[in-house]
Amino acid sequence: MNDRKKVSLPFLFDKMTKGVPLTMITCYDYPMAYLVEQSGIDIVLVGDSLGMTMLGYDSTLPVTMDDMIRHAQAVRRGTPNAWLIGDMPYMSYQPSDETAVRCAGRFMAEAATDGIKLEGGQEVVSRVKAILAAGIPVMGHLGLTPQSVSSLGGFRLQGKSAKQARKIVDDARALEDAGAMAILLELVPDRICELIAKRAEVPIISLGSGLNADGQLLIFHDMFGLYPKFTPKMAKKYADAGKLIGDGLKQYVSEVTGKVFPGPENYFGIKDEEYDELVRQLG
Ligand code: KIV
Repeated sequence: MNDRKKVSLPFLFDKMTKGVPLTMITCYDYPMAYLVEQSGIDIVLVGDSLGMTMLGYDSTLPVTMDDMIRHAQAVRRGTPNAWLIGDMPYMSYQPSDETAVRCAGRFMAEAATDGIKLEGGQEVVSRVKAILAAGIPVMGHLGLTPQSVSSLGGFRLQGKSAKQARKIVDDARALEDAGAMAILLELVPDRICELIAKRAEVPIISLGSGLNADGQLLIFHDMFGLYPKFTPKMAKKYADAGKLIGDGLKQYVSEVTGKVFPGPENYFGIKDEEYDELVRQLG
């Protein structure tokens, strides 16, 4: 493990005030969280995108609170120092303030997260306030909000018209006024993101929304070629781990088939006298 200190809210706000971009990534399991911890990334989101990246669903909608808790616990074990956010899955906050507080509380109590994220603007203000009143920091999420993908018309850029952009600007203000500690803007035009970031006093994080935000988020599996179905334009592939693993698997199949694996370094023998004794006993 490295020796960095636990990331705190004051640390994140201090970076924002000094104009040092915040780093954020999604993560879903222990081995990857261990690597994320070594990289010194500030904020880690256990996103409900795990429904697609880890569980193979076509959307995030089937993901349950129990799925989220299990993954968040594993990620926390791998990254004890990042500011860890649990993503509220579909129907964990939509029904009522009380449902929202109970589910947000599970993240804190069972997975030791530092806060939660939920999707939506003015329509979730009462949820944000109720969760905050329970002492749980909240990150907002606007623009392309995957839980509403059906009503948004697909995974596409949001806020292209002045009218749509105005709604996102107003939603961001409503979330900030309600007490959100940060707002994620997913797939909105860069100048809309910049405009919101300039006005806001809380960190604005961009996912595919341009450079002029207080921080950047990428989806782990997009960064490393680990999601076979598609790679969105907003993602940058930093390494092709998918190809690396695929090549390794093909080599394994070929070596087992060709009796090249296992080599002598991969297994153990027995002393001659012990083996001879066994053979003698067996006749
Ligand atoms: O679930 C997730 O990973 C997310 C990101 C797309 C922001 O919500």
